[in-house]
Amino acid sequence: MSQHAIGFKMAATMRQYLLCFAQEHVEFRLAELRAITSLLGIKVDLNDPEYDQMISEGQRQLEQLYSVKKRHFIGNTSMDATLSLLMANQAQVRPGMVTFDPFVGTGSLLVAAAHFGSYVLGGDININIIHGRGKTSRKGVGQYRGKDENIRANLRQYGLEHLYLDVLVSDFSCQVWRVQPLFDAIITDPPYGIRESTRKIGGSKELTVNEEQEAQHIPPTTAYHLSDIFTDLLNFSARFLRLHGRLVYWLPVCRAEYTEDQIPHHPCLSLVANSEQPLSTTIGRRLVTMEKTRHMEGLEGDSPRAEIRDDCYRDHNAIREKVFGQNAKDLKMKVMSKTESR
Ligand SMILES: C[S@@+](CC[C@H](N)C(=O)[O-])C[C@H]1O[C@@H](n2cnc3c(N)ncnc32)[C@H](O)[C@@H]1O
Repeated sequence: MSQHAIGFKMAATMRQYLLCFAQEHVEFRLAELRAITSLLGIKVDLNDPEYDQMISEGQRQLEQLYSVKKRHFIGNTSMDATLSLLMANQAQVRPGMVTFDPFVGTGSLLVAAAHFGSYVLGGDININIIHGRGKTSRKGVGQYRGKDENIRANLRQYGLEHLYLDVLVSDFSCQVWRVQPLFDAIITDPPYGIRESTRKIGGSKELTVNEEQEAQHIPPTTAYHLSDIFTDLLNFSARFLRLHGRLVYWLPVCRAEYTEDQIPHHPCLSLVANSEQPLSTTIGRRLVTMEKTRHMEGLEGDSPRAEIRDDCYRDHNAIREKVFGQNAKDLKMKVMSKTESR
């Protein structure tokens, strides 16, 4: 039996499974089951509510095992265990693969990918998070993070340290990798600018740093617009994923204004799944899964670039504005009347 499915235990029919286990995550679970069954080569009609073939033993114990509450190193935006595992399933992560998270934070997505046997790598602009320094997010254990509170220790906690490749301090807007299809999967939760600001290295002044200053130099940062984060993510994935490798990421949306034109697209990446998780009345996020279906090389014209047709992410803090800005109240009313009219 596969170790991939979670929450699919002895449900007699698809309808029962969705009622018992998936509940409000129906959209996610169906997309996840599709990813698992296609990985295992099982042909099923997941739209048939009476479908009753056993696909896998349930894995609900993993939610407890990997619970963030019991994790060694956590932060304010650590992704919960269920969603992290679901993302790894969507990416069809399996043993021997290399998975990369460019906005790694405390590494929750790397833990999930390593659970499925992948080697893991991450990057983050925040030096404190990469080195496990600074203020702790855990209550009642002092003000600062303890020694060895870092991503590697998290993997060690679950017996997965042998799959840890490394994590590096890096700004995603400045590429540091040799251009090659290096990764089998990219799973990530980019910053939305709500709980943390979206920054990249840059500034108005040209700075010259001499050798002596280099070690101590902290470069200035400037706004990293959401539209650039997401187009960079797709352009990066088109270059660095192997063919048929998957990109899985969260995209924040304003629920009243959401249309499919807000999903970024790229000529080398095909959309596989797109499911909503409401976060509040106004704001939600969509879990987007894409597969690299062609290489960049050999395409005609200039190198193809990612695009967002409805560029609602162009302004800095675009989503933050919708949560806290002038129009937040109007948007709330718009969603409520949309829900009532259903
Ligand atoms: C939503 S958090 C990721 C949380 C992570 N999934 C976890 O479980 O801890 C987004 C991360 O992106 C990082 N980040 C923000 N701007 C960045 C940039 N320009 N390049 C790389 N990382 C960045 C932040 O420091 C933050 O750790």
